[in-house]
Amino acid sequence: YVVTSDLTGIAWRFPLIEMQGVPLRNYIVQKWSNISAFCPDPSDMLIATYPKAGTTWTQEIVDLLLHNGDEEACKRASTSDRFPFLEIQYPPPIPSGLDLLKNMKPPRVIKTHLPIQLVPKGFWENKCKVIYVARNAKDNLVSYYHFDRMNQAQPQPGPWEEYIQKFMRGKVAWGSWYDHVKDYWKEREKRNILYLFFEDLKKDPRREVERIMRYMDLSVTDDVIDKIVQLTSFKNMRDNPMANYTFIPKIMFDHSISPFMRRGEVGDWTNHFTPAQSQMFDEDYARQMADVDIPFCTSI
Ligand code: A3P
Repeated sequence: YVVTSDLTGIAWRFPLIEMQGVPLRNYIVQKWSNISAFCPDPSDMLIATYPKAGTTWTQEIVDLLLHNGDEEACKRASTSDRFPFLEIQYPPPIPSGLDLLKNMKPPRVIKTHLPIQLVPKGFWENKCKVIYVARNAKDNLVSYYHFDRMNQAQPQPGPWEEYIQKFMRGKVAWGSWYDHVKDYWKEREKRNILYLFFEDLKKDPRREVERIMRYMDLSVTDDVIDKIVQLTSFKNMRDNPMANYTFIPKIMFDHSISPFMRRGEVGDWTNHFTPAQSQMFDEDYARQMADVDIPFCTSI
């Protein structure tokens, strides 16, 4: 939906402003009262993630499950058009997530990166299904670093060494990874959140697709599950123009800097962290994650 607009007049690299302690893009903060007042239908589902944790992958699996593995049906529109991004706000003429939601009838599959305390309360009041996807901190950080290089709507990542520090302090868009994964984890049972891991999707995609299917109260045949696993492999999604984000104009997403579908691996962090950086990160991680025991893995 952004493709036909003239985006040349936009001042990119939108600054972050803290909203209740969470750094968010200025345009999101400006429209916060409208976002927060959004009330979903009980049939709407939410896919919540920290940025770069496997949102697009999960979205594709969910859409294929809803369409019984029909590949063509899931190419009806781009990821951005199929799944309204709740809080996203841009300068005109780019439509917001709320604009898209207004034009879509429930049941919708809505995307958010908001930490749990900022999710509009209507999602909980209406007992919407919520799928959360988490990815180990180091791979998540690496992926976010490359994304901030290519996505002109995000602040400049700066040098790698400094980016690690910013990530550790939660001074990146959508805030602290640590708080994000912990706060959804603590609430997952009470609020019936399906809490998934990127690494599990990679290790045993079939099992995870089946878990998502059951959570959604759907039932598809084993053959369809196999087909969905295939269609959502990294290679297939990388080559799918409706899922690989090449539908976003180059002025915003510059895939020549770093493609959206970059590596899709577990353990790519080993190609980025020096041993000293890794040790420093791990020590800080142990402190920040001391109050929970979330079974993350950093290699498979
Ligand atoms: P990398 O940068 O490590 O390659 P999100 O959709 O939340 O923005 O996450 C993007 C990350 O998920 C990118 O990670 C991207 O390559 C990866 N990804 C997307 N689809 C994938 C798939 N089908 N299999 C594995 N990784 C995938």
